[in-house]
Amino acid sequence: MKTVLITGATAGIGAASARAFAHAGWRVIGTGRRADRLRDLQEELGAYFLPLSVDMQDRAGLESLAKLEGEWSGVDCLINNAGLAPPMADLQDSEWDKLQTVIDTNVTGLVALTRALLPKLIASQGSIINLSSVAATYPYKGGAVYGATKAFVRQFSLMLRNDLAGTGVRVTSIEPGMAETEFTLVRNGGDQAASDALYDGIDPMTPEDLAETILWVASRPPHLNINALELMPTRQNWAGFATNRKA
Ligand SMILES: NC(=O)c1ccc[n+]([C@@H]2O[C@H](COP(=O)([O-])OP(=O)(O)OC[C@H]3O[C@@H](n4cnc5c(N)ncnc54)[C@H](OP(=O)(O)O)[C@@H]3O)[C@@H](O)[C@H]2O)c1
Repeated sequence: MKTVLITGATAGIGAASARAFAHAGWRVIGTGRRADRLRDLQEELGAYFLPLSVDMQDRAGLESLAKLEGEWSGVDCLINNAGLAPPMADLQDSEWDKLQTVIDTNVTGLVALTRALLPKLIASQGSIINLSSVAATYPYKGGAVYGATKAFVRQFSLMLRNDLAGTGVRVTSIEPGMAETEFTLVRNGGDQAASDALYDGIDPMTPEDLAETILWVASRPPHLNINALELMPTRQNWAGFATNRKA
């Protein structure tokens, strides 16, 4: 039986992935800060789900995830999913603490956890699936720090493949557009109406769409590495170039 470690399993894409992997016969280690949500998921998924409440900003906590023993000691797949975006704002109008939290979570925590788990992933010839975003590639106003963290995740994924050449470990960057999760609620500071308005009439992707894709990536045969995968709802497109005219 294979084991997957999914960060950010308390909501959205991570929770849907925990369900998808568990239903496909994987053992699932799920992390996140909200212990109550992890307990609910354990009740739903049973003994093959191990809930571990760890904050991505706690390096020691992340490193402890690499020291599990017994039946949970092996890891065949790491899904670096936990992440968030600061409120949409120009950099000069952004609150530093919110930016710092995003960088610490999306970048620093992701690197720390990956580094700590690599010996186990090399031993299992496992795979690493990182949640980047279309924001890594396509700039939009008010999202500089978020987009830059996701560009880091994309490039980290591609370059890590070179470090891991010959080990059999596979690395994938998943780059979704709009998926309806708690992402916008978190970004908007809990404004449910604003979140609902963003998705209204768009038919956004669902967490299950992404979970199915992630499970598919993890289930490819060992000789096949999906380097990067970009997905969007059919109703989402790219913004055009912007200009600003002189008065
Ligand atoms: N939804 C989209 O449109 C979209 C598009 C592109 C990429 N993505 C990426 O997909 C990933 C999952 O997002 P989602 O849409 O599923 O959002 P979500 O519903 O808000 O879920 C985010 C998850 O990240 C966890 N998390 C956030 N900060 C954390 C921290 N400091 N420590 C531990 N866990 C933390 C949350 O758990 P706790 O709050 O319980 O800690 C939660 O489980 C993110 O990396 C996001 O950037 C999302």
